[in-house]
Amino acid sequence: MPTYAVTGAASGMGLAVADNLRTDGHTVVTVDLHDADIVADLATTEGRRHASEEVLSRSGGTLHGAVLAAGLGPVPGREEVIAQVNFVAPVQLLEAWRPAMADTAATSGVSSKVVVFGSNSASVTPGIPGALVNSFLRDRPRLRAAVTRPLGKNGAAFTYGASKLALTRWARREAVKHSWAGSGIRLNVIAPGAILTPLLQAQLDGPDHERIETFPVPTGGYGRAEDIAAWAVFMLCPAAEFLCGSVVYVDGGSDAYFRADAWPSSSSLASIPGWFRRMRAFGSTGPGDLAPPR
Ligand code: NAI
Repeated sequence: MPTYAVTGAASGMGLAVADNLRTDGHTVVTVDLHDADIVADLATTEGRRHASEEVLSRSGGTLHGAVLAAGLGPVPGREEVIAQVNFVAPVQLLEAWRPAMADTAATSGVSSKVVVFGSNSASVTPGIPGALVNSFLRDRPRLRAAVTRPLGKNGAAFTYGASKLALTRWARREAVKHSWAGSGIRLNVIAPGAILTPLLQAQLDGPDHERIETFPVPTGGYGRAEDIAAWAVFMLCPAAEFLCGSVVYVDGGSDAYFRADAWPSSSSLASIPGWFRRMRAFGSTGPGDLAPPR
């Protein structure tokens, strides 16, 4: 049976994913701060190194996929920890596990599959500074601190949204490359809305509870961890073979409510030269490492 790594598996959606996978008979190697096969603090370089090595060791180098659910909510004063757990950790862990997932895909003849946890906060938080998103993608923690400081008590919410927006962008950029799609690994993003887990409960118990309670959710109410887990597990199964670089919103309609026309949308005429460049490059070398068109 396949083996999957699941981070954030001690609570909420990560726990529900691990439970679902085990119920289906899969082997699961879990990572978290507590109550996990591998106890590691993913906010630290040492914790990430430990988690990446231990997963490979415990899985014997055979890894059919991973679900990156560990995350920290918008807790004021913990902006850099949010950045490390929500963005740096999934990126570094996946880079460390990628060769094993490619080897496993080559040996088994079935694609390995990865689901990273984004959030609809990436798109429904208005005004996330572009410089903040770039501070993640370009690994510039000092720029991040400089952008976040003047945001005051809103710094955590913007950092959270930016971490998820950057992670989503990173995943979509990487997913199509030789090293992922071309190596038999499917990399996709799930973007939950408000899901009633300890992370959301902490916000509901905090000073910003009204903002969450009044946030528009067309279906009404909050989502359940087990429902999101079912979607994530589906994104790991053979039927998801053609899913690549996709962002699956499961948010009760909040993103559609605010941004029905925002996407899909046609690209601007100015982007046409970039399109042709990419088409030519794909024809000769495949997706490669070109920067995305604007
Ligand atoms: P949760 O708080 O129930 O679970 C998160 C898990 O991550 C916990 O077990 C926690 O110990 C672990 N974690 C946190 N910091 C860590 C660290 N430094 N090292 C290792 N593990 C660490 O949260 P939930 O709601 O299940 O969140 C799962 C993912 O979904 C997160 O990435 C979150 O940002 C995302 N998300 C949550 C939403 C919600 O409404 N609950 C909405 C959209 C996205």
